Order: sequence, then C-alpha cells, then structure tokens
Amino acid sequence: MKVTMVGAGYVGLVSGACFAEFGVDVCVVDTDAAKVEALRAGRIPIYEPGLDRLVAENAADGRLTFTTNLAEAVRGADAVFLAVGTPTRRGDGHADLTYVFAAAEQVAKAAEGPLVLVTKSTVPVGTGRQVKEIVRRVRPEVEIDVASNPEFLREGSAIGDFMRPDRVVIGVESERALKVLKRLYRPLYLIETPVVATSIETAELIKYAANAFLAVKITFINQMADLCEKAGANVHDVARGMGLDGRIGRKFLHAGPGYGGSCFPKDTLALARTAQELGAPATIVEQTIAANEARKAQMAERVIAACGGSVAGKTIAIFGLTFKPETDDMRDAPSLVIIPNLVAAGARIRAYDPQPGHAREMLPAAVHYAESALGAAEGADALVLITEWNEFRAIAPEKLRRTMAGRVVCDLRNVWDPAAMRECGFEYSSIGRL
Ligand code: UDX
Repeated sequence: MKVTMVGAGYVGLVSGACFAEFGVDVCVVDTDAAKVEALRAGRIPIYEPGLDRLVAENAADGRLTFTTNLAEAVRGADAVFLAVGTPTRRGDGHADLTYVFAAAEQVAKAAEGPLVLVTKSTVPVGTGRQVKEIVRRVRPEVEIDVASNPEFLREGSAIGDFMRPDRVVIGVESERALKVLKRLYRPLYLIETPVVATSIETAELIKYAANAFLAVKITFINQMADLCEKAGANVHDVARGMGLDGRIGRKFLHAGPGYGGSCFPKDTLALARTAQELGAPATIVEQTIAANEARKAQMAERVIAACGGSVAGKTIAIFGLTFKPETDDMRDAPSLVIIPNLVAAGARIRAYDPQPGHAREMLPAAVHYAESALGAAEGADALVLITEWNEFRAIAPEKLRRTMAGRVVCDLRNVWDPAAMRECGFEYSSIGRL
C-alpha cells in the first residue's frame, strides 16, 4: 500500500508516521520547504511525545518520506489524505476550506490512476460533496473516490490515540474506497477496534458532534464547580459520583479554567454556524461557546479577588501556559486571556512553562519568563497554576512556601491538596472545592 499525506501539520505528521509504523509506504507533502527540509533532517516542528522516534525509525526504514512535490507524492498512491488546516474564517466563524479545496484540486490534477481521496482535516458536513465536485470537474476521466476519515487525536497522546483508538470512522460512497481504508487500518483489527462505516456526511458530522459533546461536558462540570463553591460541595466528588454512572462516564469531567486548544474552540464555533445555516440551531453548543469564553475572563477576576481585590504592582508567578500539558500548543489557551487581563490590572507576571512554544509571541511583551517553576515563584506575591504539567505536582508545598514572598495560590486545575496547602500557610483556592 502507498499513501500520500497532504499537510505536514500536527494531524498529517502523526497520521503519516503511524501509517508508516503499520508498514505502509507514506509520503508526506507540504508546501513549506523549510519544514520539509527540517523533517528530512529528523527535526520535528512540534512537540508530541514519541513522534520524533517514530519519524526517525520509519524514515530510516524508507517507509516515510517528505517532499514539497505534490505531483510526485501522488504518483502510484492508493489513497491520498488531506490533512491541511481548516482555521476559523475571519468574520463569520465558519471553517476556512481554502486549503482543503486547493489541495483536492492539485491532487486531482496530479492523479495518474484510480485513487481514494480521503479528507482527514476536520471539515463541515457537506465538504466531501464539494470535494467530489472539484475532482469531477478537474479530472472527470480518472476514477477518484472521495471519502472522509476524521481523526480523534489528542495532543500529547496522539500516537497512542492513533494506534489504539476507541473507533475508526470511515465515510464512503463506494465499496472500493471502503476496501482501501479498511486495508490501511487492518493492524487495528487485531485489537478489535470498532469501525463505523457510514456516509461521508455522517462521518463529517460525527467528528463535530463528538468534539462539541466533549466541550459541553467540560463546560457542564465547570458550571457545577461554580455551584459547588457557592454550596460548599466538592466538584471532584460530584464528578466521580456522576461519572461512575456508565451512561455518563468519568472522562472529561475535570473542572478547570475552560477548554482551549486547536480543536474544541474552532470546531464548536463551526458546528454552531453550520447548524444555524441548515436551520437546526445547536443552542446547547452556542451556550457552551459563550460560557467557555466568559470563564477564561472570570479566571482573571478570581485571581484578582484572591489577591485582595487588586494585583496592581504585585508579582504573580504563572505555572503553565499551553492549553494543556504535554504539548507546546498555545492555541486558544486560557493563559492568553488570563495573563493579559492580569497585566492590564497592573500585575507583574513571571511565567514558566516546560514547553512554551510560541508563548512569547502571543502574550504581552511585559511578561517575564523563568527557566524553572521555582524560578518563576521566587519572591512572588501570588501563584496561579493554569496548566497541570506533572512537574508542578512534584513540587513540595513547603519548598514553594519558602520560595514565594506571598501566600496566595490559585490552583486552576486542582493539582494540590487543599488541606496540605493550607497547613503550609498558603491562602489556597482551587476550582469547585473549598
Ligand atoms: C481534542 C479531542 O479530545 C480530540 O479527540 C480531537 O481530535 C481534537 O480535540 P485536544 O484538543 O488535543 O483533543 O485535547 P483534549 O485533551 O481533548 O483537551 C481539550 C481542552 O479541554 C484542554 O484545554 C483541556 O485542558 C480541557 N479539558 C479536558 C478540561 O478542562 N477538562 C477535562 O476534563 C478535559
């Protein structure tokens, strides 16, 4: 089998390397020559645990190659995956499909024989149909079957998610496309991974529905956390008590500062827009988007209140900037709202993140960056934990207490034990727990 992956971004790289690991010949193509050059030299442009090793081993075995030449990459391919970006379109919240359509057209032009053109990028329902129209218009004489195969990769555990998925979703219109995709995922049959074979429209919608549902779930527990604080209850136990009901499930019930990342904010917005346009408004998703946005700003208010109503002139240490641990991704991270609001309120910020990625370009210039967690905490009046990297859990509260000048700790991820923190003398607050 030979596969072409169009786009060496997060999804394309992880999926390409994992297919190669399955024994498939994979060529990853990207227009960014510098990125391709770096990948050929074994340098991975993103931080994802295990990806460097997977790329190096499969590249050394000759199963994984990188190029800027799309026509060459498409030659002889059984399947071509589109894994290009679908950012939020400026102005209306829709997914911008420019890259998807351009890539589909180029693939069609380059196709020499039958192939399956698979959309892996997250695209609104109906995109597959539009891709099909492009392909028919450009190359009516070549047999190109269009398919949808959405990914459910979480940053930080993307390789495990690809290799041991809960399910594989395949949207097709032909037996041939189904056969090719099933063959590609054959190694997963050994671990009895369910395959949901369905229409292209349904596959496209499954992806959005799954992400939106998870975003709703997180927002629900965040609102319960607020209620717990008012009522004197503990959100951790509420989540556990709810989650043990098999119909609800325990995952994605961790209260926090609001969801961020490359998927949930963008996908909820795109789904809400599509639903509005098709006349079936997803009001629960619309409310989730608004509640999550508001929550990030409320987190800054919470810190200001914990500091006695003003942070003017105070030094605040920040632990964690990325939208979640084990990634260097800053997209839609809560820190991007919390920190500017604290700076605007007069705080001096000293931040630390183990993988700060593009944080410096995205945060106010006034932010100082420390080389370690304790370096950030040194002499600080208050500490705010925004992202739950494991290394923060390992810091002994006594040591933290000796390092900081002040006593205020706002733990926005419920990493520390409230009793232990208070015993140490901290004025400790967390989310949904007293
Ligand atoms: C998500 C989906 O999980 C994945 O299936 C999809 O393909 C892409 O989007 P990702 O964005 O990498 O993956 O991270 P995820 O672990 O889902 O977390 C998303 C956000 O929700 C993070 O900001 C995280 O901190 C937050 N979150 C998650 C919570 O606040 N509480 C939870 O219980 C779970």
